[in-house]
Amino acid sequence: MRPLIVGNWKMNGTLGLVAEHAAALTTSPLARALDLVVCPPFPLIAPFAARLPVASPLRLGGQDCHPAEAGAHTGDVAAGMLREVGAAFVILGHSERRRDHGESDALVRAKTLAARRAGLVPIVCVGEDEAERERGGAARVVADQLSASLPDGFEGVIAYEPVWAIGSGRTPTAGDIAAMHRLIRESLIGRFGTTRAAAIPLLYGGSVKPANAGTILHIPEVNGVLVGGASLVSADFLAIAAAAL
Ligand code: PGA
Repeated sequence: MRPLIVGNWKMNGTLGLVAEHAAALTTSPLARALDLVVCPPFPLIAPFAARLPVASPLRLGGQDCHPAEAGAHTGDVAAGMLREVGAAFVILGHSERRRDHGESDALVRAKTLAARRAGLVPIVCVGEDEAERERGGAARVVADQLSASLPDGFEGVIAYEPVWAIGSGRTPTAGDIAAMHRLIRESLIGRFGTTRAAAIPLLYGGSVKPANAGTILHIPEVNGVLVGGASLVSADFLAIAAAAL
């Protein structure tokens, strides 16, 4: 499986940053060797798409979508709208959405179905918080989130993001990441069968930086990374991507 490197800009970025990243990322040979995806805030997707050359290997994604196709949902964005302005992916169930907007697994599941209907690849995020890990419940939490957030016939990407590692500069040990990714793969095989499960990329996310990317990206069952803070600096994002090779 080709490594998949996804940048999550969260609520950061400007038109100026879009111009700089579009230039840096599309001219890098890495964009042809790996799958690179940038997920900027909604208003920056269309201007970013407008700067990509025809048949650009760099792809774009949204950071959320609503489960409905349209309607009276002030402030929300439909999956089809993301697709129309140039997104190919959408991050769903990020822990910041679960925390700030009270998103449940059932809602994430409905959003995942909406994403697929619109032709977007969903990137579904799961991960335990610090208290859950300390009491030895990380595997159970992640298994429960997976079973309730993924619809039958799921096609897409899973991102394992321990909540306590996001933006904190702390990461699990390589052994802990390997163990969790193995559990996730086993649970996907149990639910969807070997062939479908093998096609689902498993990303690690949480304080991925150029300095630790090489180690993380070479852990078994880690097929890529979801990068927050470091994805805002194009040189750092490209250094992380280079570490996958
Ligand atoms: P971080 O964020 O890389 O800044 O820790 C990762 C994420 O939340 O996707």
